[in-house]
Amino acid sequence: MPATPTIETGEPSPPLDAAVGRRALLRWGIGGGLGIALAAALRAAWRFLMPPLPTSRPAPVAVPAAASLPVGGRLYVAEARAFVLRDEAGFYALSAICTHLGCLVQASGPGYACACHGSRFDAGGAPLGGPAPRPLPALAIAWNKEGQLMVDPGRSAEPDARLRLQRG
Ligand code: FES
Repeated sequence: MPATPTIETGEPSPPLDAAVGRRALLRWGIGGGLGIALAAALRAAWRFLMPPLPTSRPAPVAVPAAASLPVGGRLYVAEARAFVLRDEAGFYALSAICTHLGCLVQASGPGYACACHGSRFDAGGAPLGGPAPRPLPALAIAWNKEGQLMVDPGRSAEPDARLRLQRG
């Protein structure tokens, strides 16, 4: 029977306990790294699916530029997270907060689109597709003493309610 060849490197091989210890340490390191990466991915997914919702009632916001809005025009009011619009009947406001999970919708053609999960709304805020279950709510608006249009993001309005241009 032929002898098994051996290679002499001249270096002493590490003791068996040290080799096992390094392997275990490597396994723990890789496992720990994967665990941290998984936790970060789950956290990011949770924040994507459940965006933070406002916790206090927002205050009415003045929109001085609304008076010069032309019929058919639309103005985004970031402070109110709302759109102010004007049609033949008058002014109205729609919330820009998606009725699915609260992301902000963007103007998209004559309607609106939510980038979070793909909901789409028509020009009046009615849902056209995607997971949003309800229309974008109409918001209360009024003229203040200075003749500025005020949007109240904390109060809803009837969808067909319109505010006439203030005269005088
Ligand atoms: S938040 Fe999900 S579609 Fe808008």
